[in-house]
Amino acid sequence: MTDHSDNHATAIRSGGQKPSILPWRGRRGANGSLQAQQPGLGHDTLSLPATMADTLPLAELDAREITAWFGDHMVLERVSLTMRAGEVTALIGPSGCGKSTFLRILNRMHQLVPGAALAGEVLLDGTDIYDPSQRLTEARRQIGMVFQKPNPFPAMSIYDNVIAGLKLTGVKATRGRKDDLVEECLVKAGLWREVSGRLRQPGGALSGGQQQRLCIARSLAVRPRVLLMDEPCSALDPTSTRVIEETLADLVKDVTIVIVTHNMQQAQRVSNECAFFLAEENSPGYIVEHGPTEAMFNSPQDPRTADYVGGRFG
Ligand SMILES: Nc1ncnc2c1ncn2[C@@H]1O[C@H](COP(=O)(O)OP(=O)(O)OP(=O)(O)O)[C@@H](O)[C@H]1O
Ligand SMILES: [Mg+2]
Repeated sequence: MTDHSDNHATAIRSGGQKPSILPWRGRRGANGSLQAQQPGLGHDTLSLPATMADTLPLAELDAREITAWFGDHMVLERVSLTMRAGEVTALIGPSGCGKSTFLRILNRMHQLVPGAALAGEVLLDGTDIYDPSQRLTEARRQIGMVFQKPNPFPAMSIYDNVIAGLKLTGVKATRGRKDDLVEECLVKAGLWREVSGRLRQPGGALSGGQQQRLCIARSLAVRPRVLLMDEPCSALDPTSTRVIEETLADLVKDVTIVIVTHNMQQAQRVSNECAFFLAEENSPGYIVEHGPTEAMFNSPQDPRTADYVGGRFG
């Protein structure tokens, strides 16, 4: 198999160890046949805007006709969803319907899974992140991810955790610039007040809720245009959850957010738009209904949506 790996992405996934088997098989065409795929082998030096205010306008993410496989198992079929610029889109649906898979496709992480393949397009402001001309590192920088379980580098200081992504994406910055960035990102992630006096302490010494906000700060440091969050509060207590939800309400002024949640109250509190995924028995997942969150919860069009948001199944 050709070495299609990306050192930076691999480092994030495996703690620095490059896997010996490289997973990406290719991308399937509309008829399901595998097409050659050229993930961008980017090790370039990226230039980042100096402040959030200097970043590009808010970005729209548009998934078109996404079909996904693990081996021969099709888990999503022709899923299309526009995630509007400057809004929070919540992905809801029962376990196993493909929400996490869909999220991973939105920043090219699906291709890290052995045997994974996909068809369709993901347009970031009109440009397909899977186009051969697009660099893998750039897609992951522009579209950040926060996971269910907080995953800071535990022995690394809080300060170094925040700027860890700079090294991984090949960005060089002066000490002063790093200091500013660390403060700005911790403020935006709602953690600055709690940690400003102990930035040199290890990230692993923080509480779970603080660690999750540290991970959000780390994501923000590379100036993403979209932040993907896969059940970011499911391992947290109600107070930490509330702090993160408040943080999201501020963040969305700078970054388009897509969040997976099993918590229907949370979906209603944090999201502008909502998409309901479902996988019927032995069938791939698809979107039953999507639209403004208020309408999805108060006047759903599909009876299955009404049953799900009403807590009658899933
Ligand atoms: N690495 C993998 N290898 C093979 N199959 C996988 C892999 N990851 C997920 N799947 C399968 O893909 C389907 C969708 O899984 P996914 O994790 O996307 O669901 P989900 O909606 O996020 O579920 P949950 O709410 O439990 O997190 C499931 O049938 C699952 O078993
Ligand atoms: Mg999931």
